[in-house]
Amino acid sequence: MKIGVFGVGYVGLTTALGFASKGHRVFAVDKDETKIELLRQGKVPYFEPGAQDILERRREMLSFSTDPALVVREAEVIFICVGTPSLPDGSADLSQVEEVARFIAEEMQDYRLIVEKSTVPVHTAYWIKRTINLYRKKEVPFDVVSNPEFLKEGTALSDFLHPHRIVIGAETQRARDIMGQLYRDFKVPIIYTDVKTAEIIKHASNSFLATKISFINMVADLCEAVGADVEMVAEGMGLDPRIGKEFLKAGVGFGGSCFPKDIKAFYRIAEENQVDFSLLKEVERINLERPARFLKKIKKVIWNLKGKTIGILGLSFKPNTDDVREAPSLKIIKLLMEEGAQIKAYDPVAGENAKRVIPSLQLSPEPYSLARGANALALITEWEEFKNLDWKKIKDLMETPIIFDGRNFLEGRKLASLGFEYYPVGKPPLGKRNG
Ligand code: UGA
Repeated sequence: MKIGVFGVGYVGLTTALGFASKGHRVFAVDKDETKIELLRQGKVPYFEPGAQDILERRREMLSFSTDPALVVREAEVIFICVGTPSLPDGSADLSQVEEVARFIAEEMQDYRLIVEKSTVPVHTAYWIKRTINLYRKKEVPFDVVSNPEFLKEGTALSDFLHPHRIVIGAETQRARDIMGQLYRDFKVPIIYTDVKTAEIIKHASNSFLATKISFINMVADLCEAVGADVEMVAEGMGLDPRIGKEFLKAGVGFGGSCFPKDIKAFYRIAEENQVDFSLLKEVERINLERPARFLKKIKKVIWNLKGKTIGILGLSFKPNTDDVREAPSLKIIKLLMEEGAQIKAYDPVAGENAKRVIPSLQLSPEPYSLARGANALALITEWEEFKNLDWKKIKDLMETPIIFDGRNFLEGRKLASLGFEYYPVGKPPLGKRNG
């Protein structure tokens, strides 16, 4: 099939690469000339495992352009993957979606299937349809479907190509048939719904996952207060299939471009429909407090932070991405700086992005120079390489060997036996020296 994609952010580019790898001809467009130029040169504009490889292997199936007319002219199925950022009141800013809808309306000459893939509040498909009806130049038939994307950054392509489910919200048989054809060789359950239901499935899924994380973070606080172990609690809970073990990792909170934005937008759309979903306000409040709580823990151990050097291990909002949007690391660094601490940071790929947000941030080129002279290390992102560091060497390089593990990622017992004081989240500390 000939597929059009508006927007080459994480969702758009993954959609483009994913369908190209399935043998479809893809026309992708974005206003951002720098991104399009990089893609034309065969370079993925951000770090995402596997993306570069598909781009190189499927070059002849992919066209990148800043000309949206080309996409509307060439592609029968058009995916809308533009950004839907938060407005100050928490609702989703749908102006880019509207702009694309108007554009399609003005350019389309034959039947087009318009697919909403960006995360949008319920009723957006209705507004896309209405916009196209208002702006189209002639009576060209079209359908609008909702086909939410569930990919995670860091595993975007494998999530796209091997999803747990495909959700298609459509109103006509023609639209359902085309979408069914498109996903023909994806061997997973396809759920056909009405459009509104599909839109809600996406927001409800992300909000539920965020709720799980805030829930386990509160359990972690209780475990810390009474000396219990949140990881064992999560395991004991998660073995019940009704609960499930995924997304029960306690830590410094969730970040990224999705959960923080989506819980706000879901709350707002509920409010607009006279539904009080204040549960999500609590989920957000708990998450917003995590960095301050982490700081409190550091202060309880280090006492006076002024002039102390703290090394930050990991800056991206999660491993395997260079994305620092809403990253807990940045909030924690700002709080530590306000206390007068000297901050050094190391991340395998996200350093430069973090520096754009905090220009005074001092980056270390590798973890050992980060450790040299440090009074404590704080692990914020669980990059796999941190497991295999030479921790004996790190201990010898540090001024005082103290580790705060914001993701319960390191082997606490081993570190304590090397002489570290080790402070995990929601579990008793190890190796602590008394006063
Ligand atoms: C999330 C969803 O998981 C995807 O299904 C969805 O498609 C995507 O949003 C989206 O709407 O586009 P993503 O934001 O890429 O994906 O990352 P996640 O792996 O969900 O992690 C989000 C945050 O939660 C990270 O900061 C992570 O560290 C944190 N997290 C995750 C925890 O603190 N504990 C956990 O147990 C799991």
